[in-house]
Amino acid sequence: MSIRTLDDLLAEGVSGRRVLVRADLNVPLDKQTGDITDDGRIRAVLPTLGALVEAGAKVVVCSHLGRPKGAPDPQFSLRPVAGRLGELLGSRVHFATDTVGESARAAVEALADGEVALLENLRFNKGETSKDDAERGAFADQLAPLGDAYVDDAFGAVHRKHASVHDVPARLPHVAGRLVLREVEVLSKLTGEPERPYVVVLGGSKVSDKLAVIEALLPTVDRLLIGGGMCFTFLKAQGHEVGSSLLEEEMVETCRNLLERSGNKILLPVDVVAADAFAPDAAHDTVPADGIPSKRVGLDIGPETVAGFAAALKGARTIFWNGPMGVFEMPAFAHGTRGVAEAIAKADAFTVVGGGDSAAAVRALGLDESAFGHISTGGGASLEYLEGKTLPGIAALEN
Ligand code: 3PG
Ligand code: MG
Repeated sequence: MSIRTLDDLLAEGVSGRRVLVRADLNVPLDKQTGDITDDGRIRAVLPTLGALVEAGAKVVVCSHLGRPKGAPDPQFSLRPVAGRLGELLGSRVHFATDTVGESARAAVEALADGEVALLENLRFNKGETSKDDAERGAFADQLAPLGDAYVDDAFGAVHRKHASVHDVPARLPHVAGRLVLREVEVLSKLTGEPERPYVVVLGGSKVSDKLAVIEALLPTVDRLLIGGGMCFTFLKAQGHEVGSSLLEEEMVETCRNLLERSGNKILLPVDVVAADAFAPDAAHDTVPADGIPSKRVGLDIGPETVAGFAAALKGARTIFWNGPMGVFEMPAFAHGTRGVAEAIAKADAFTVVGGGDSAAAVRALGLDESAFGHISTGGGASLEYLEGKTLPGIAALEN
């Protein structure tokens, strides 16, 4: 891989130069208060921003937040992120109220050496996510002139063929930031020759989202543990009734086929926590996976499953985990995710946690982040990397 890095750029000297940094500051916000509920992604980009500030660059940061529809939408404003970023950097972050307009140009113009500006949400502009090359290119033509060099440190977005990820680097000298480098370095260990046993834990709600990664991983892994909402489609494929649990009917056949081909590699829940309703205070009990009552909804894996998963994780030397085991945001249904996370943390293995939700779960459950080898900031991005797909953001840096 022939990618130039932040160190190469720093070696050239950046003092007084405008450096455009694509970050992934897509942090979760509290629906009521708008407060940032997990600032992990902001912290993750600090090594790159700190190095540029220290070297005297004029740092212009851009990012997306959520999925606005190509026009300004106040609920997706990056303004609160500018505040938090400033606190973490220990210096004021100038905020532009647009991305490539007058406010952005003025904010960049006013930067002194070693100062930081954050532009408003990239996705307030139709061109950012457009599938039309010309439309994306036209937006990149407006964004690129705000920098003299480009740093991609938005690992969580490298799988998106978006203007700021894919088209801007074609218009500016470009390098990979510290976070992108670290993520790629770690994930490449998993696609190379991982130490065995190699155990993968997958959760989250949809099988359809994970199908490609299951297909790609099945030949490589020693064990694949499946929990979360997606387990019910597999349980159905095993011939069990799943009540009103999450089910992707059209995926049942595919899951049956995967189970047949997997030998004994795939491990499914043997018990689940089934509730009256999808609610934090719903009545619930643990039931066997083949005895989910028809009116109940499975919201977590049960304790026997946690014990079985923990046993499989105990001897592992390499572990990758993506996706919560249950509705961990509700304390009654967080035991499965906590139990599995703790088993991963305890294992004498190289452990990688992939995905915004799993990373947020680790922090929300108050687990010690340092007990994990690496907590990826990318959900979709880390999965697509493991699938062996070409990632537009990485490919753009290679050219
Ligand atoms: C993420 O949260 O996975 C990344 O920030 C990418 O966001 P997206 O899935 O909306 O492109
Ligand atoms: Mg996503």
